Amino acid sequence: MTAIRVLPPVLVSQIAAGEVVERPASVLKELLENSVDAGAQAITVTLDAGGIKRVQVEDDGAGIAREELALALARHATSKIASLEDLEGVSSMGFRGEALASIASVSRLSITSRTPAAAHGAAISAEGAQLGEVQPAARAQGTTVAVADLYFNTPARRKFLRTEGTEFGHCDEVFRRIALARPAIAFQLKHNGRVSRMLRAQSAAERAAALLGEDFFNQSVSIEVETGALRLSGRAGTPQAAGARADGQYFFVNGRYVRDRLLSHAVREAYSELLHGERQPAYALFLGIDPRAVDVNVHPAKTEVRFRDARAVHQFVYHAVQRALAPSAAEAPVSYAAVAQGGRPIQSSFGLAQPVAAYEGAMKVEPLPRSEKAPPLGYALGQLHGVYILAQNEAGLVLVDMHAAHERIVMEKLKASLDAGAVQRQSLLVPAVFSAEALDVAAAEENRTALEQLGLELSVSGPNELAVRAAPAPLAGGDIVGLARDVLREIREYGASQALSGRQNELLATMACHAAVRAHRALSTEEMNALLREMEETERSGSCNHGRPTWYQLTMSDMDKLFMRGR
Ligand SMILES: Nc1ncnc2c1ncn2[C@@H]1O[C@H](COP(=O)(O)OP(=O)(O)O)[C@@H](O)[C@H]1O
Ligand SMILES: [Mg+2]
Repeated sequence: MTAIRVLPPVLVSQIAAGEVVERPASVLKELLENSVDAGAQAITVTLDAGGIKRVQVEDDGAGIAREELALALARHATSKIASLEDLEGVSSMGFRGEALASIASVSRLSITSRTPAAAHGAAISAEGAQLGEVQPAARAQGTTVAVADLYFNTPARRKFLRTEGTEFGHCDEVFRRIALARPAIAFQLKHNGRVSRMLRAQSAAERAAALLGEDFFNQSVSIEVETGALRLSGRAGTPQAAGARADGQYFFVNGRYVRDRLLSHAVREAYSELLHGERQPAYALFLGIDPRAVDVNVHPAKTEVRFRDARAVHQFVYHAVQRALAPSAAEAPVSYAAVAQGGRPIQSSFGLAQPVAAYEGAMKVEPLPRSEKAPPLGYALGQLHGVYILAQNEAGLVLVDMHAAHERIVMEKLKASLDAGAVQRQSLLVPAVFSAEALDVAAAEENRTALEQLGLELSVSGPNELAVRAAPAPLAGGDIVGLARDVLREIREYGASQALSGRQNELLATMACHAAVRAHRALSTEEMNALLREMEETERSGSCNHGRPTWYQLTMSDMDKLFMRGR
């Protein structure tokens, strides 16, 4: 055993650097956060070799006084908090006072700064935490921190750095996260002498479009909800636009990007009914909360948070996102671009010249009644191969998957009536008798009340026979026996209370499936119009119970493009 010793301060900083300064991107994050805390209006980032050679951040913020330059590089030195009370209500990005010290211990760092009160600027440099003298320097108000040769004195860590491209990718991601949360600040990012991003001060929506792409912007809904102490804003991608990868998911708490299981779970839940399989929604959401109700001091990198009232936050986020996604089909149009997937429109070759005149008069289209405001989904023109309804609305052509749409409408009806107590029952003139296993018969007897709540009245008509005497009113015309069998199976497998609570959506979706208009059934124009009107009134009718879209809008200009007309 060797004797216990107190470690030299530089070594302490180098150990701490392991937690905070994982790679160039973590340096960039700390420097950017300092500039944000300093109230900068414009920030310029300069990177060389993915940040491995140089990470430099220049701002026009408050600056650091000449006599405090050395202090800025000392461990546990901060201007942001002074007491435990301050820590508990901290609203700045930084507060631990260790980032610059840690970074300086593993790099060649220099700070040039000028406060508004100073007659000129001043600079200090440090190499592996060995501080140099403070020198006068020319500079306008603000601060430049340059970090060169990261890990030059800790070769073991240097080995963990990846290629320039990978490190740049991480830096770019950090840059995007901070820029997303601060639309009022102008940002510039240069890499190896070339400008790679340039963002002027703009609105939150413009910033989101600039960083996440016009596609995301056009295929997302805006969220703006405030209740007492909590506020959620931002944009949530439509379920139809969800992709296979989870890389478009940004959550911020008080302007700080976080990766939090509770929050991502709340969002995931809000999408759960609308999303199909493993598809990942894109979103950029900003939660505003009293800083005293959230602890950001969980980890040095501050990407984890702890809420004082986790349940309330979860509920709030879940409901806010769910409501934003829920508007009826009429308010959530799906653009044709989503179908065409950026590709060229399909051009079928007919092989024959198409004499336009031959089509004239072949299809008589009733003009939209002018009197009242035309309904959003328009009026039915006809049915295509028994699968799709074609309708004309103001924007152009609407295509509806009639089976999927009907299923969603029925499901929402069932849900609403179950929420209100029980699904209405409709007695059958002739009970539908079916053979059942003994366990089904037992389940039917034991769960009479639960079944009645679901709108089903079953009676035992023999040791291996059940009869449906009443069926859920919205489903009465459908496949009643298949429905009863599925509900019994669900109840046997999961128990009635679980089927009615935790698995309610699955259960109702299964039920709806038996009622919905089967594909290939001919519908009259009145029936089609009735379906369109119901879609307009139904929440979430933009996607079916399995998360697939129920309708598409093909606008006149989409069609003009298909025919390369007038452009
Ligand atoms: N860009 C900057 N503009 C103004 N002051 C800065 C800047 N960067 C750092 N500082 C000062 O240096 C101090 C130490 O920074 P840092 O080590 O990152 O700790 P923290 O941000 O946790 O306070 C800050 O508290 C702040 O006073
Ligand atoms: Mg800091």
